Amino acid sequence: MAEALQQVILDTLDAESTIKDTRALVLPGEKGPAISNDAQIAILGALNSLSSRDMISYATHEVISHVPTPEGSQIVEQGSNEARVWAALSLKGQGEPITPNQLKKAVGDEVAKVGQGRAFKNGWIAKEGDGLVKSAPEIKDITRDDLLEIKSTGTLKSGEKALADLRKRKLIVQKKGQWFSVTKGPSFSTSIAKPETDLTVEMLASGSWKTSAFKKYNFEAEGIPTNGGALHPLLKVREEIRNIFLEMGFAEMPTQSFVESGFWCFDALFVPQQHPARDLQDTFYLSDPVISLPPKKDYYDLVSKVHEHGGFGSTGYRAPWVEEESRKLLLRTHTTASSAHMLYKLAAACRGEKISSDKGEYTHGASSTTGSDRGDPAKDDGFRPAKLFSIDRVFRNETMDATHLAEFHQVEGVVADRNLTLADLIGFMRVFFDKMGIEQVRFKPAYNPYTEPSLEIFAFHPMLNRWVEVGNSGMFRPEMLEPMGFPKDVRVHGWGLSLERPTMIRYGINNIRTLVGHKVSIEGIENSPAVRF
Ligand code: PHE
Repeated sequence: MAEALQQVILDTLDAESTIKDTRALVLPGEKGPAISNDAQIAILGALNSLSSRDMISYATHEVISHVPTPEGSQIVEQGSNEARVWAALSLKGQGEPITPNQLKKAVGDEVAKVGQGRAFKNGWIAKEGDGLVKSAPEIKDITRDDLLEIKSTGTLKSGEKALADLRKRKLIVQKKGQWFSVTKGPSFSTSIAKPETDLTVEMLASGSWKTSAFKKYNFEAEGIPTNGGALHPLLKVREEIRNIFLEMGFAEMPTQSFVESGFWCFDALFVPQQHPARDLQDTFYLSDPVISLPPKKDYYDLVSKVHEHGGFGSTGYRAPWVEEESRKLLLRTHTTASSAHMLYKLAAACRGEKISSDKGEYTHGASSTTGSDRGDPAKDDGFRPAKLFSIDRVFRNETMDATHLAEFHQVEGVVADRNLTLADLIGFMRVFFDKMGIEQVRFKPAYNPYTEPSLEIFAFHPMLNRWVEVGNSGMFRPEMLEPMGFPKDVRVHGWGLSLERPTMIRYGINNIRTLVGHKVSIEGIENSPAVRF
């Protein structure tokens, strides 16, 4: 088709030397001239192809034309409403009159309603008794004829008034169209030689390149858009939160160990061995290997002792200690397991051990001050204040639904300094959440086995118009800190929240499966905007 169309253009030019108006062309396989918009679009394609080879040149002209609306097209196919009403009736004196109800059944409510009025006005139908009959033996369906003409020519010979009337009846709409005038180009010929697109070894060898016609480079052609990498929304929000922590002087904790032992995930945090969070229903345990290497004996002994018998001012849980429970390997249920590792390391100097300076540890970037000068500077017990954070993945054996998965990300901040108070914790969180764009926060007393006091954090959600829980926090218990070796006046507070919840709120996502898992659309990831808190 494309080549046949190009040939028509070349042959017409050959015979007539110019084409004044491409609407007069008769396209291959058509009977009438190419008046419709679609035909002109096809012609434009052929013109572009020919002009790229300098065979022709053309000028574009704009024209306002008309096209039938869907309702207009229906009339072209089935006749006007009034003609359909007329057709459904019998001629006066030659058959039974039809009642309005029968008419509705025959042509449909809408056609009967709209068509009757016009048919009466045109004198096509009349009342007889309770029914309707044809009063004209023959009619001319002008509406349909006009629409047919518009469909094939884009206009009406009978003039602007009839067009305006059809426009008012919403049977046609105006449409901008184009047509073209064409003249011969410098390389005009009536035969379409397929130009070469590549210079080949064979052409060079045979010398045929000298006489071959080559396709011109089109420097204006737009290239195929390249696919770049795109960050997942969770990573974008993670980066924003990370920046908030860094801005506040926090150092990032290493959190690469998804697998922990019960000891680090629970025992070190003074979570009782019988706590429901340790149940199979809540925690994923490893089947191979089942058991971890033993923790450091002196610390292990202190932890088991504080659980079973108490110490450091605590009565302990007074329940039998089970070593096997402590050694079980599991997928960490919270990043507080990593915080426990880091706090234990932070207390190394207080225990009289040399501080290790392995890569990636808190000592590299940790700020040495929390903004206040606390305690007695004269006494050096080895303790150095620290502000640490992490954002990483945790696992819980949960029933999955629209807002819960078996794995999610936790954002966690931990601050260690002498004589910190609950007011310090609340102050830190206010600044932190404020930087996240959450200005209204409230705190509610809560229970955590490893913190006392503990606070749940609620934020006012303007879209939901209610308070929603956004995090959990507290002051770590002495039963956790003192076995690590921290001096008695050192307090550590921390808070945690999920990464998914603020991300879902930011991006207006209400099902977690659109964010995580196999239903995530790549396009959605590519198009998701960056966030700024
Ligand atoms: N680990 C807690 C949680 O999973 C969060 C938390 C972190 C609470 C630190 C207190 C201190 O919800």
